Parts: sequence; C-alpha cells; structure tokens
Amino acid sequence: MIAKRLNRLRAAAAAALLASLGAAAPAQAASGADLLKSQCIACHAVSKPEAASKERLLSRKGPDLHYAGVKFNKDWLVSWLQNPTVLRPAGVAYSHVVKAGEGGVADTVDASKLTPHPKLAAAEAAAVADALMALGTGDELVAKGAFKNDPPNASMAGLLFNKLRGCASCHSAKPGAGGVSGPELYSAGDRLQPDFVVEYIRNPQKFDPHVWMPKLDLNDGDVQKLTGYLMTLKQGGAK
Ligand code: HEC
Ligand code: HEC
Repeated sequence: MIAKRLNRLRAAAAAALLASLGAAAPAQAASGADLLKSQCIACHAVSKPEAASKERLLSRKGPDLHYAGVKFNKDWLVSWLQNPTVLRPAGVAYSHVVKAGEGGVADTVDASKLTPHPKLAAAEAAAVADALMALGTGDELVAKGAFKNDPPNASMAGLLFNKLRGCASCHSAKPGAGGVSGPELYSAGDRLQPDFVVEYIRNPQKFDPHVWMPKLDLNDGDVQKLTGYLMTLKQGGAK
C-alpha cells in the first residue's frame, strides 16, 4: 500500500521534472531549421511540393520558400523577417483578395483580407535566414551566371518594363504605381538574386507549372536588360 503510493509519488515527481525540462527547452536558441518547422510550414512550402496543382497554388497561405536559397539576398531576409512589409499588394492568391470592377471600374484590393506577417526577433531572423539560404541550392532551378551583368541601358529597360512587355500591368516598379497582382519589384535589387530574376522572367512555370505570370516570348537581350533594370531598383524603386 505504502510502496504503491511512493511509486505514484515518484512517477509524479519524474513527470514534473520532465515537464519543467520541456518548458525550459525553448529558452535555448532554437535552430533555424526547427523554427521553420514550428512557425513557418503552416503557410509556406519549404520543400518541393510532391504534386503541383492549380488547387494547391490557389489554396497556399504564403509563397513557396523551397527555393529561397537561390532567390533571396540573405541580408534582405534578415531585415524583412524582423520588419515585414507588404510584397504582394493583393496577397498570394490574387483572386481571393481582389474585387472585380464592373462596368469599366478598375479592380480594387480588399486589404482587410490581408493579415500582417509574423515578426521575428533579431536572433531568430538570423537563424531562420541561414536555414532559408540552404533551401533549393541543389535543385538546378537557377543556373549560376545566368545574369550577364552587361551595363543596362536604363531608359530602354524601363520602357521595356513599363510599356513594351507589359510587366507594369502586374508589377510595381515604384511604390503606388503599376500593377498589384504580382509582387512589388521596387525592392527587387535589395531582395532578389539576379540569376533568379533571369530564370524567372525566362520561364516562371519552371518554378511552379501553374503560376499565373505568363511565359513571355522575350529574347535573351530583353531578359538581360529587364534584369539589369530590376537590379537597380532598391528601397523605393524607379526614380
Ligand atoms: C499565417 C501564415 C504565415 C506564416 C505563419 C508565415 N508566413 Fe511568411 N508569408 C506569408 C504571406 C501571406 C506572405 C506574402 C506576404 C506579401 O507578399 O506581402 C509571406 C511572405 C514571406 C516571405 C517573402 C516571400 C516572397 O516570395 O516574397 C518570406 C521570406 C517569409 N514569408 C518567411 C516566413 C518565415 C521564415 C516564417 C516562419 C518564421 C513565416 N514566413 C511564417 C504567410 C505566412
Ligand atoms: C499577368 C501578370 C504578370 C505579368 C504580365 C508579369 N508578371 Fe511577373 N509575376 C506575376 C506573379 C503573379 C508573380 C508571383 C508568382 C508567385 O510567386 O506565385 C510574378 C513574379 C515575378 C518575379 C519574381 C518576384 C518574386 O518576388 O517572386 C519577377 C522577377 C517578375 N515576376 C518579373 C516580371 C517581368 C520582368 C515581367 C515583364 C517581362 C513580368 N514579371 C510580367 C505576374 C505577372
């Protein structure tokens, strides 16, 4: 009888000890990979989705991050994760957020459908950025050196972007101007790696077969010029 009660007490004490150890664990710096798993995968794909489909794309809660290591500049990640700004004015699934205009009235964005991005503390942001920079680097989605870095002819490239190739109907090269259905590009030079931009403009469907940016019939000269132009857009965009 007494022995039984003692055993029960011991088990309770052991459980309490285990629980206190468990509660203490998060105080130690969690690894970036652990943070990705615990705080990010509810909204982001951090590994290549097994089955790409239009339904998956439309029901995503956040953009895909499985090729983050070949897409982003690490410094930008570290600072954005601490102070996130709006990148896609109409969210990840444009059609869910935009009210179609009727009778010649332009479409409007229902901003109440967008929620602010979670913010990370500096140490977490640095750890997560490290983990993100390891994603997709072995996938061969983006060829190193795809961007030739010929000095861009800024006015010609601006014309291509804004007028000739229609990029500005979906993207903004300057806050408050241009389209809203695609991510803003006025911070492209801070945010994105040039080789990624070349490959994305060449063939957006390489990154997801259902993505709705059209594959535009551009020659390599135009792709290089457009990328050179986008790389000049930093903190606030086209002058
Ligand atoms: C509740 C859903 C949600 C959670 C949780 C979340 N995100 Fe996001 N994330 C989003 C959305 C929505 C966007 C798009 C924001 C925009 O375009 O303005 C986004 C954008 C991003 C971007 C920019 C992607 C791009 O292609 O432009 C990065 C990087 C990012 N998130 C990282 C993270 C990390 C790291 C975590 C975990 C610490 C995380 N997110 C947690 C929803 C989420
Ligand atoms: C019909 C609308 C549309 C047009 C036209 C369009 N895009 Fe896009 N673009 C998008 C959308 C939507 C995405 C984001 C896809 C996603 O992440 O799901 C995108 C993504 C991008 C990206 C990657 C940026 C990022 O943060 O993920 C770049 C770079 C880009 N577009 C450049 C261009 C250029 C240059 C042109 C003109 C030659 C152009 N786009 C024309 C809709 C468009």
